Amino acid sequence: MARVLSCIQPTGEVHLGNYLGALRNWVSGQHENDVFHGIVDLHALTVTETPNVLGNQTLSLAAMLFAVGLDPAVATVFVQSHLPQHSQLAWIMECTVSFGELSRMTQFKDKAAKREADFVSAGLFTYPALQAADILLYDAHEVPVGDDQRQHIEITRDIAIRFNHRFGDTFVLPKAVTPKAGARVMDLQNPENKMSKSASGDAGIVYLLDDPASIERKFKRAVTDSDNEVRYDRTTKPGVSNLLEILATATNRTPEAVADAYTQYGPLKADTGAAVAEMLRPIRERHAELVNDRAELARLIRLGDERAEAVAAATLARAQAAIGFLPR
Ligand code: TYM
Repeated sequence: MARVLSCIQPTGEVHLGNYLGALRNWVSGQHENDVFHGIVDLHALTVTETPNVLGNQTLSLAAMLFAVGLDPAVATVFVQSHLPQHSQLAWIMECTVSFGELSRMTQFKDKAAKREADFVSAGLFTYPALQAADILLYDAHEVPVGDDQRQHIEITRDIAIRFNHRFGDTFVLPKAVTPKAGARVMDLQNPENKMSKSASGDAGIVYLLDDPASIERKFKRAVTDSDNEVRYDRTTKPGVSNLLEILATATNRTPEAVADAYTQYGPLKADTGAAVAEMLRPIRERHAELVNDRAELARLIRLGDERAEAVAAATLARAQAAIGFLPR
């Protein structure tokens, strides 16, 4: 049984990119693998400055992870800040990665640029070291993520190789797993950019909690191009290809097969909107039920935290012993 780990930040609402790029695959793999999924609130702190928001967002995200279908009987859902091992191993990771390697991370460059005159924390820069700790603590073989996280899994691998070389075989080398379609869902208004919580407007982002009418409206207004030919080609036709990929994932087909079924943009947009609204309807309904039962959510999180901590504590102890710190 492969050990699988992946995490999501509690920053803003979960969107279709998160779902198609990552969450959907977390759910589909949960019965074949031993799966751990973290709500990474420490990562969210890199861009959070307001008090009393992270806790509620963490709870709502936990409800969302169960609403999309993670089964607490088999999937371990935990909260990163509840486990001190993440911060403890992160420091060791920071000392195993170089300034140059961190400087090459595109997510850091993008986020720092978007924050312009805002505060750019050192945590935003060392973020991949904490992410490496998240992954390596669980001896994860596979990390199901969207395309944008591939670079962070690569650097985690490099860190693990370096640590193992310096201090002896300690960490499992992880590999990123991305879906064939949906690994990079683009913004419906700016199909050159990925759908992202930090994008400027909501019109191009489909949230999992959007009602069906707004979902259909967002797809009807999606930006395409002027040549009116339905063809799957991400380079020259990013808007149309994004719609084709989304509809393909919602209906279990390939984007090329979907393209063959349409000659005009209008019906493609309408059908994509309808299929996505239908796909998300049960998730929205289930989330509404779960989010109000705070006691049950707290119970499920406690269960996940305990299962996660047993694994994380053993790995941290192994890493500390490999380094050869003086035992307490
Ligand atoms: P986050 O919280 O931004 O996103 C969660 C997951 O959603 C995927 N994703 C997308 N996939 C396809 N198209 C998009 N437009 C899109 N936008 C987001 C992401 O690839 C991700 O899989 N650094 C991570 C969180 C993290 C993590 C980890 C992930 C922290 N520690 C350990 C894996 C393992 C992040 O910011 O994801």
